[in-house]
Amino acid sequence: MIELCNVWYILEKHPILEDITIHIKPGEMVYLFGPSGAGKSTLLRLAHMEIMPTRGMVRVADFNSSRITKDEIPFLRRKVGVVFQDFKLLPDRDVFDNVSFALWATGVPYRKIKKRVLQVLAEVGLSHKRYAMIKTLSGGEQQRVCMARALANEPFILLADEPTGNLDDESSRDILTLLGRINRRGTAILMATHKEDAIHQIPGRILRLKEGKLMS
Ligand SMILES: Nc1ncnc2c1ncn2[C@@H]1O[C@H](COP(=O)(O)OP(=O)(O)O)[C@@H](O)[C@H]1O
Ligand SMILES: [Mg+2]
Repeated sequence: MIELCNVWYILEKHPILEDITIHIKPGEMVYLFGPSGAGKSTLLRLAHMEIMPTRGMVRVADFNSSRITKDEIPFLRRKVGVVFQDFKLLPDRDVFDNVSFALWATGVPYRKIKKRVLQVLAEVGLSHKRYAMIKTLSGGEQQRVCMARALANEPFILLADEPTGNLDDESSRDILTLLGRINRRGTAILMATHKEDAIHQIPGRILRLKEGKLMS
């Protein structure tokens, strides 16, 4: 499913990640836990091949970092949902547009796109906000839009980079509850966080990262 084999990521002779081996199985909940600067975001970027390893290999479903071509990358992206701390939404568009955006490129007919978008908005509890502009939403609501967008393609894994990083306690709990529900329905989750309290809410495996090295 997602596998990193002896992965190194080196920038200007400085190793950011050292000899990382991880195997995430279908439906697993995995936390990537470590302080700021440990390399968590870099590892997540490698896991969906936004960047490529300096040494070692990343495998996502049938795609292999040492063989994948540029033309295949969009197909890989449809299998992997990504949620970031800083949302990356289109602020002047509404919720529906933001969630449907990535689906247009897949050639799916409008009727099906609409059905799928309404379905994922219901899952994240935002059906009533479907025509609201992104900039009018709270942080917690914006993060739920991100999750709906990531789920629209029915990915087998969700990569979440500090998904509660910019949220207050209550919204953070809501997002973690939602992630737990998504995981229980069968989607694997790899979630990076530096917050100790975030790794105890959903049962899962904890990978500790420190200065680019895996501790456990
Ligand atoms: N594009 C980049 N250029 C230079 N340094 C980078 C780059 N990306 C990451 N780093 C460095 O790699 C280390 C790990 O960063 P990052 O993966 O963002 O850690 P984390 O997400 O755990 O806070 C940090 O020291 C950071 O400064
Ligand atoms: Mg980070």
